[in-house]
Amino acid sequence: HRRVRARELVAAKDRGERWPMLTAYDQYTAAIFEQAGIPVLLVGDSAANNVFGHETTLPVTVDEMLSLVRAVVRATTRPLIVGDLPFGSYEEGPTQALRTAVRFMKEGGCHAVKLEGGRNVADQIRAITGAGIPVMAHVGFTPQREHTLGGYRVQGRGEAAEDVIADAEAVAAAGAFAVVLEMVPGEVAKRITDALPIPTVGIGAGPDTDAQVLVWQDMAGLRTGKAPRFVKRYADLATVLSAAATHFATDVRTAQFPTPDHTF
Ligand code: KIV
Ligand code: NA
Repeated sequence: HRRVRARELVAAKDRGERWPMLTAYDQYTAAIFEQAGIPVLLVGDSAANNVFGHETTLPVTVDEMLSLVRAVVRATTRPLIVGDLPFGSYEEGPTQALRTAVRFMKEGGCHAVKLEGGRNVADQIRAITGAGIPVMAHVGFTPQREHTLGGYRVQGRGEAAEDVIADAEAVAAAGAFAVVLEMVPGEVAKRITDALPIPTVGIGAGPDTDAQVLVWQDMAGLRTGKAPRFVKRYADLATVLSAAATHFATDVRTAQFPTPDHTF
């Protein structure tokens, strides 16, 4: 068993091979996604929402992220694990960014880090990649800036397309091995994908990116309620789990569980 390498994902683009990425935040899901053949797992700062119950991604800390990164790394042998640098852990500049990235590699044991931003974080990407740490960038809608961007909105419509394209080009030039394109028009994502030498990873960016990512609880229907338009639900785990818990509760209340079979 050998880990997928960042450079192999770049080479896959040259061969026209598309690849899937999912988030993972704990050992069982990580192991299942490895079994399913997912080559890249992202321990996303979306853990703030999907694990810790915050309204935004802003509150999650480096230490909280590192606990989740370690769990996902320990549970897997094959996928490349990307650790997402949380809000506040890299914005001050290249020195802070490199210090945080080194913690993710040493204490988290992941194989690459991700951060949000384009031209404004090019210096950070240069510093981190200069230390031998692969960086996945993230442009378009960047949730850590949602208070400035005005909520979850498509980025790069009309004339703003040039801004997203310039950001994607800047992160590639700074040494990123891949770039997430979140909530950008499909046509803009295609232009970026055709122009860049590194793989693009779409989420709400249409069908023409090199890779696709979803938050796993969205992909598997564990999260209930209205999902964003770019989500496809491949299962209904919320219903399955709710039925199991309801059945357990009924069994306990009606003395159907445990039985002699479950008893020492
Ligand atoms: O944190 C996250 O889940 C992400 C992906 C949606 C790209 O950044
Ligand atoms: Na993220």
